[in-house]
This record gives sequence, structure tokens and C-alpha cells, in this order.
Amino acid sequence: MPYGTMLQVIKHPLIDHYLTRIRDIDTSCARFRDLVGCVGTLLAYEATRDVKQEEVEVQTPMEKCTGLRFANNVCIVPILRAGIGFSDAIVSLFPDAHIGHIGLFRNEDILEPVEYYKSLPIQIGQGPVLLVDPMLATGGSAIAAAKMLKEKGCKDIRFICLIAAPEGIEKFHIAHPDVPIYTAAVDRQLDENGYILPGLGDAGDRIFGTL
Ligand code: URA
Repeated sequence: MPYGTMLQVIKHPLIDHYLTRIRDIDTSCARFRDLVGCVGTLLAYEATRDVKQEEVEVQTPMEKCTGLRFANNVCIVPILRAGIGFSDAIVSLFPDAHIGHIGLFRNEDILEPVEYYKSLPIQIGQGPVLLVDPMLATGGSAIAAAKMLKEKGCKDIRFICLIAAPEGIEKFHIAHPDVPIYTAAVDRQLDENGYILPGLGDAGDRIFGTL
């Protein structure tokens, strides 16, 4: 891979197992949601392996000892709408996380993502930000969202997706070479409508049951 550590394809038999069921057209909406959450947490676990920690003294029932905690709160930012279904389980890993939301739609005239919703915590620039969207397809939304986070002062952004297309990875990496991508799989290609092949279909529709 030409991206070095900026593209992390997380390999684990559990991820393979879950992802195979996620891709399956016969997987129910409820199961799909659960499995997306499971993979999301495994990816978030890897994506935060190197966050800054600080020592803290703790009193056990036996004696005092030194423990470790996050030096800064993690912030989680799903890209609407499918990012919500992906982020719910991730949030449960980080009970103190602040949560932002970014909504973008594609303007078919200019073929560019347009912001329709933005709600970002004030302190977002202080710690690591997990930007989450299940599918990195053309890269347009992820690129625009990462730009919005940088405009808010975020310096430590980590993008987490379930499946990435080679086209989206390349575009995202060109736009944001400092933002690592954590994904469970890199698929073959995009089709003419911007869907990932083999992919899993429309992640938002499958999460929210709007098929
Ligand atoms: N968004 C999806 O939900 N699926 C794709 O395959 C591409 C973009």
C-alpha cells in the first residue's frame, strides 16, 4: 500500500466474520445494526491505541496506585446519516466523549458536498477526533467533513469507516495526508453510481430500514 501508516486495514478474524454477515443481503436490519456497531468498536479500539495518556493516582480497596487515563477527551463526529448508526456503539466505548454531527448532501449541479448541518463541541480542537462514516466511497463527504473539523482547530483527526473504495482512499489521502484512515476492508471499486463493489449496498438504508 502506498499510504504507509495513514491507511490501517484492521485485520482480525472477528472483523472478517462480522463483515461477511454485514455484507450479506439476507442479514436483517436489526442484526446489521448490531454487527456494524461491533465492527465500529473494534476499529475505534485500534484507532485510539496511541492517544495521549496521563498518570492519575487511584485508591484501590487495598492501597494507592498509579493508573492511566486519557489526557484529553475523545470527540466523536458521525457524518449524517449512516455515521449515526456506526457511532452509537463507538460512543459506548468512550463514556466521556463529546459528540459532534456533520450533515452533507451532494449538489448534483456542482457535484460537490454541501453542508446542511453542523454541530461541533466547543472544545473539539483539544483532543483526538474520531470522524466516522461507514462507507468511504468517492471521498467527497469525508474530505469536506475533515476540512470542517480542521477549520474548528482539530489537529488530531482519525477517520474510521467499515469499507473503503480505492478511489475514495486516494482522494481523501491527497486532500488530508495527515489524517489516518482506519477501515475493516478495502473493496474493489466504485460503480457508475458511486456505490462500492462488492460493498454492502446503501449503509444508511440498511441501518435505518429505509430500503
Ligand atoms: N454509501 C453507501 O451507503 N454505500 C456505498 O456503497 C457507497 C456510499
